[in-house]
Amino acid sequence: MNATMSLEKTKHHPVMLNQILSITSPQHGGTIIDCTFGGGGYSKEILKYSDTKVIALDRDKLVKKYADILVKKFPERFSFFCEKFSNLNQVINSNSNPKAVIFDLGLSSFQLSDTSRGFSFNSKNFLNMEMGINKYSTYDVVNTLDKEHLAEIIKVFGDEKDGRIIANKIAKYRNVKPIKTSKELASIVNEVKKNYKDYKKNPATKTFQAIRIFVNQELTELISGLIEATKLLSEGGILIVVSFHSLEDKIVKNFFNLYSNLRKNPSRYFPIKEKHPSLFKSSSKKPLVADIKEIEKNIRSRSAKLRYAIRNNNSFIYPNEFKNKFKNYFQLERAAL
Ligand SMILES: C[S@@+](CC[C@H](N)C(=O)[O-])C[C@H]1O[C@@H](n2cnc3c(N)ncnc32)[C@H](O)[C@@H]1O
Repeated sequence: MNATMSLEKTKHHPVMLNQILSITSPQHGGTIIDCTFGGGGYSKEILKYSDTKVIALDRDKLVKKYADILVKKFPERFSFFCEKFSNLNQVINSNSNPKAVIFDLGLSSFQLSDTSRGFSFNSKNFLNMEMGINKYSTYDVVNTLDKEHLAEIIKVFGDEKDGRIIANKIAKYRNVKPIKTSKELASIVNEVKKNYKDYKKNPATKTFQAIRIFVNQELTELISGLIEATKLLSEGGILIVVSFHSLEDKIVKNFFNLYSNLRKNPSRYFPIKEKHPSLFKSSSKKPLVADIKEIEKNIRSRSAKLRYAIRNNNSFIYPNEFKNKFKNYFQLERAAL
C-alpha cells in the first residue's frame, strides 16, 4: 500500500476536540497555532469560525497536500509550515500574538496505518519509523548504535526492564546480518520474551516506543517546543498539550507546575526563600481526559491527557530549571551514531 492510499482510507478522529474548542473558544476569533497539524482535525474545526486564523506546523511532509486544501480554501486565514515545532520561532512572526498554541503529540492515525513507514510490528517494509525531518532512521539505530546506549534507550524510553537483554540480542543478530524490517525487529524482541504469545499487547511494544522516541527525538522536541511556544504567548495566551504516554505527560506537568501558581514550597514549615519566576497565571491541576463516548468511538483517546496553562504578564525568562530537570533526555536523545 502506498502512503497516499493509506492516507485516504484511514478514518481520522481528532482527539478531545470538544475540550480543545471549549478552551480556545474560536467563536470569539483570534489566531491559533496548531503545532501538530496531522490530519488537520483541529485546524479545520477552528477555521469554521470566520474570525479565526490558524497557523499550522507539521514535520511530516506527507500532510502538506491536506494543508494545501485549507490554504486554497482560506488563503487569508490559514498557513502551513513543514517544520518541527522546536523551530516554531524561526517560522512564526514574534508579533503574531496567538490566542492559543496547541500540541497534540505522537503519531497520527495516517502515520500508524501506513505500513511503508515501519511503525507497525508486521511491516515488511524498510525499518524507518521517521515522522519527518530526521537525522537517522530506525534502521541506522538498530544496526549501528552502540549496544550500551541502545540498552539505556530501551530501558528509559520504553520503561522496559529487559532493555539490556534486548540490546544484546539485537547486537548479536546484526553481527550476522543487518536488521531490515519492523517484523524482523519485533521477532528478535519476542525471542527474549518467554511465553510472548500470552501477552495482551505485542511484547515488542515498549522497545518500539523507545526506539521511535529516539529516532524522532520526541522528548527533547517537546521540551524545546513548550519553551518556544511560551516565548510567543502574551498575557492570557493559552498553552495546550494533549499527550499519550507518561514520559510526555511528566514533562508537561513539570513545566506547568514549576512556572505557575501550582509550584510547591519544598517544605510547609519553611517560608519560600527566593521568589521563583513564573510564566503562567493558572494551570490545570489535574489533566482532562476523554469521556466514555469518545473512547468508544476512538480507542486511542483512552490514553490521552490534556493539560493547559494561561500565560501571565511577566516577561519571558528562559526556564533553565525545567530544562535541567530533563538533562538526561537531552543526553540520551542527542547521541551521535
Ligand atoms: C496526533 S497527530 C495530530 C493530529 C491532529 N491534531 C488532527 O486532529 O488531525 C500528531 C502530528 O504531529 C506531528 N509531529 C509530531 N512531532 C512533531 C514535531 N516535533 N514537530 C512538528 N510536528 C510534529 C506528527 O507528524 C503528526 O502528524
